[in-house]
Amino acid sequence: MEQSAYFCGMKTLDKKEIVVSGSRPTGLIHLGNYLGAINNYVKMQDDFQSYFFIADYHSLTTHYDARNLPQLTNEVLATYLACGLDPEKCTIYIQSHIPQIPELYLLFNMIAYKGELEKIPTFKDKVRSQEQSGKSISAGLLTYPVLMAVDIIIHRAVKVPVGKDQESHIEMARTLANRFNNLFGEKLFPEPYGFNFGEELLKIPSLDGTGKMSKSAENPNSAIYMMDTDAQIRKKIMKAKTDLGPTEPNQQRPEEINNLFDLLRLVSTPDTLAHFDEQYNNCTIRYGDLKKQLAEDMVNTVAPIRNRIEDIMRDTTYLHRVITEGGEKARASAAATLNEAKRMIGMRYV
Ligand code: TRP
Repeated sequence: MEQSAYFCGMKTLDKKEIVVSGSRPTGLIHLGNYLGAINNYVKMQDDFQSYFFIADYHSLTTHYDARNLPQLTNEVLATYLACGLDPEKCTIYIQSHIPQIPELYLLFNMIAYKGELEKIPTFKDKVRSQEQSGKSISAGLLTYPVLMAVDIIIHRAVKVPVGKDQESHIEMARTLANRFNNLFGEKLFPEPYGFNFGEELLKIPSLDGTGKMSKSAENPNSAIYMMDTDAQIRKKIMKAKTDLGPTEPNQQRPEEINNLFDLLRLVSTPDTLAHFDEQYNNCTIRYGDLKKQLAEDMVNTVAPIRNRIEDIMRDTTYLHRVITEGGEKARASAAATLNEAKRMIGMRYV
């Protein structure tokens, strides 16, 4: 197995290592977020000292819509809990409840260079799409990676469970951590690395034939959301793009068909997968049958989680307690780091 520069496998598990990850509350959570990210968090909480948060400040860099923020934030929080994050095992909090984060972010903005931030691929992509829709580029968007670096190093984390699309941000976090250490002559911050459990990062395909499931995709039918009703799930799957079917044995599969098989692999039994594989390869497959089976297996995966999310969202007392206690723990850890950073900078007067 090839070990990429930053994604290391299970071999390096170490109980005392610190883990941080967060999700932006910018849209409904879909199956890709669940299988790709949150499931990874759940696996890590037993073996690491872990911090999982909701990046509400980050969501403001592109989605400045106050009406949706409370609802979306609560939904991410309830989803974390419904998927199995346990506040007894990990620290769950809201980014904006930790005032030490914007304070350390201010300090790190002094050592981050405009030129290097402008070169980050995610920034360039966002500039392109914001400009296309006639929107201005905020300073907050440019310094998004600085804030993300601070999210990570404020707890002196070394492992960050994120998707491959976040690699350039993690690299920036390493650059800034090292720069700070070198400038002020002490090794306060360890180098953080991206982390995932599998050998390759999971790509959850979209239903419209191309690419992966995405929160902000224009076509809402291309993703299965954790809050979709059974009927919505069935409808989306039945409408998923297909071709006219194989005409010769063992024919290569176009992307939209591969995607459906990938989804079967994720939610159905190995027998079901093998059954449709064989039917495709001997050209007897009927996509309608495949989709019906996939829809049922998808409903059986999503429905129990959706029901738990709904129950937890109604229990506002519980949600409040989780973020109050999580916030306290996160602030204690953040304050200790900030204190050291300010001492190193020389911010100790009289
Ligand atoms: N940028 C991440 C994303 O879009 C979200 C995020 C913000 C994050 N701060 C973080 C992830 C810190 C890991 C660690 O998915």
